[in-house]
Amino acid sequence: MSESEAKPERRILKNPALLKYIFETSCFPREHEQLKQLREATVEKYPFWSLMNVPVDESLLLSMLLKVMNAKKTLELGVFTGYSLLTTALALPADGKGKEEGSFDFAFVDADKDSYMEYHKLLMKLVKVGGIIAYDNTLWFGTVAEPEENVENFAKQSRKHLLELNSFLAADDRVELAVVSIGDGLTLCRRLS
Ligand SMILES: C[S@@+](CC[C@H](N)C(=O)[O-])C[C@H]1O[C@@H](n2cnc3c(N)ncnc32)[C@H](O)[C@@H]1O
Repeated sequence: MSESEAKPERRILKNPALLKYIFETSCFPREHEQLKQLREATVEKYPFWSLMNVPVDESLLLSMLLKVMNAKKTLELGVFTGYSLLTTALALPADGKGKEEGSFDFAFVDADKDSYMEYHKLLMKLVKVGGIIAYDNTLWFGTVAEPEENVENFAKQSRKHLLELNSFLAADDRVELAVVSIGDGLTLCRRLS
């Protein structure tokens, strides 16, 4: 387990021993070989920024979700070294398509947090009714539940945008909503209308 993966401050789960247990017992043994190689190469090349890859437990959840949905057309905003993108690609059926425009089954949003509200407007058109939009980092290291004065400066701006997004999504009756306390917080929106 790499140092950045073990760092609990970037995860919702703040118990390093429990995180280690989950990863080592259940997740790493199930990680696809190509994802393992990509994760290790990312840690080697970007020792600090490798924490931007979605963690292995979240990757396994996304993979199962995509298969349950039988997703074929997907898009992603925020790629970095491509861990979540490769997770998606590996979960798609042979006739799945990653780049075709039109009605998408699934979108994974993990880019600039300031633009999530704008992405939501666009994705509500691009993703089909019944499809899922997944927003990553919606709990922002847990800071969404902390008073602003306790939040470090670097996190303040994105926190503000994520608070706005979380409230907006909670009231958006065009989507069914599930907030998953995994990684840094993952909000799943299933488009209803
Ligand atoms: C958290 S990382 C993505 C990690 C990736 N999902 C993974 O699991 O490996 C965020 C990425 O979003 C990119 N990004 C930031 N703003 C963006 C924008 N406006 N459009 C597209 N990508 C953007 C950054 O360059 C970075 O590569």
